[in-house]
Amino acid sequence: MVRLQEHSLRILAPPGNCLTTLTQGPVMRIFWQDSMSLGIAALDCEHRELVLLLDQICVAIQSRNIQAGITLLPRFIEVLDSHFLNEEMLIETLRHPEAEDHIAGHRDAVPLVHALISAMTEERDLGQAETAVSTFIAHLFTRLLHQDALLARQLRDAPATCGSASGSS
Ligand SMILES: [Fe+2]
Ligand SMILES: [Fe+2]
Repeated sequence: MVRLQEHSLRILAPPGNCLTTLTQGPVMRIFWQDSMSLGIAALDCEHRELVLLLDQICVAIQSRNIQAGITLLPRFIEVLDSHFLNEEMLIETLRHPEAEDHIAGHRDAVPLVHALISAMTEERDLGQAETAVSTFIAHLFTRLLHQDALLARQLRDAPATCGSASGSS
């Protein structure tokens, strides 16, 4: 199972004084769109919260309020950890044929989140944080959501034996 929680302690460390300036150019924003819905209520609900938290982190970076971003990180990690765990249990229950690729997508997200944590809490560098959050969002769109769509398709086609995660949104 892919886990991020052990890194949350570092987020709670007292903030330092060093704060580098934001690099030029707009910070990426992310908004929930109906096209992102997978038609599985539980997954869509978790994805919506992740998108909302990611966007709030983007806004914190854009407004140069790194402390606001740091405050959001524990919840983001908690939701992402729980979401990956929920999906990986479904993957196992369903014997999902794309299990290996899907879990690799989760695993590959971990260093991207660590880069964001490090940029915000250790480096306190808004430019690095901007790059890190943009990279994570790109990974979300290019791999995570694509793999989730394959899982959702199998869930929709599966008999009603998948617990609370099945059903339309
Ligand atoms: Fe996933
Ligand atoms: Fe997901």
